[in-house]
Amino acid sequence: MAHLRGVVPAAYGRVMALDLPDRGGARAAADVRALWQVVADADGRGVDVWLALGGSIFGQGVQRPRGLREMPSFAGDVLDPAQSHGDVLVQVVGPAADAVHAVAERIQEQAVAWRVRWQMDGFRAENRVEDGKGLALNLFHFTEGFGNPGTQRELADQALVRAGQGEPGWAVGGSYQVVRIVRFATELWDKDSVGEQERIIGRRRDGRWLDGTPTREEPNFAADPQGKLTPLDAHVRLAAPDRRSPPPIVRRSYSYDRGDGDKGLVFCCFQRDLVQGFEATQKRLEGEAMGKYLLTTGGGYFFVPPPSDAWIDALFTA
Ligand code: HEM
Repeated sequence: MAHLRGVVPAAYGRVMALDLPDRGGARAAADVRALWQVVADADGRGVDVWLALGGSIFGQGVQRPRGLREMPSFAGDVLDPAQSHGDVLVQVVGPAADAVHAVAERIQEQAVAWRVRWQMDGFRAENRVEDGKGLALNLFHFTEGFGNPGTQRELADQALVRAGQGEPGWAVGGSYQVVRIVRFATELWDKDSVGEQERIIGRRRDGRWLDGTPTREEPNFAADPQGKLTPLDAHVRLAAPDRRSPPPIVRRSYSYDRGDGDKGLVFCCFQRDLVQGFEATQKRLEGEAMGKYLLTTGGGYFFVPPPSDAWIDALFTA
């Protein structure tokens, strides 16, 4: 599955949200099929390419994935419609920026019926694997990825829709993809000392825990009920308070830098259940100390269909 091929995300990626102007028209099914073919042809030749469906592409009465709706505005978000949502999301990732861009351009040329709603280029600095975990350095100078699942089996377990979950049959094996364009107030952040930054995240820049627990082991937050070592509003403490049951999400984010100080993270995560995955985690993060350095300006909710094309019939058959 292109979106979760390998445990380690590729170093470069582009996300493109596409709209089908003739969404309700007689040609819509053919246009969707044509895009699927373009994506399938581009995938696997030095780049991974996949497609994910926005809620707006589903007509009335069809079997849409249960949790798929327009991404709501969470506390503090300022969502710009010009870089939010979309009928379909196409993502291209690979080890070389040039190849990613070339494939993305070709897809846009070939997908003639589709209009680009918004797109973002991203990169993962110091992209690497350690102990099976894909790690990268974000623009706050912190390493991300330690808390992700480390094996292909765990990835599938957290990210892929299972039978018996109450989802339509065609959606089993698919995955909810959340994208959030998060602008970082890097100037403000860089004024803080490294120690302050580490208390905001709840880990050292290199991933070590603040209570001295080695990076690969689990800290005992319960032994620090007042947050003297790891503050109660630290990112990791709110994101994953119960170390025995980590949030069921797989994070695969990319840094972005559009110039003029507009830089941050194209946060991206996959999960089999949107409410238990992204939404529960995002709600716990309300009030986190990092909040004042972040502004979410766009993104959306999408659903990556399973490999067969059965979803295309589901889209157009009530
Ligand atoms: C956009 C700004 C964000 C930044 C800079 C950021 C940064 C980090 C860092 C440095 C870590 C620690 C290393 C790691 O385990 O990967 C981390 C962990 C984590 N983050 Fe974020 N994050 C951001 C947004 C989010 C969002 C929006 C969510 C989900 C709603 C999220 C969920 C998590 C989870 C679940 C962990 C793992 C916690 C653990 O196992 O201890 N993060 N993040």
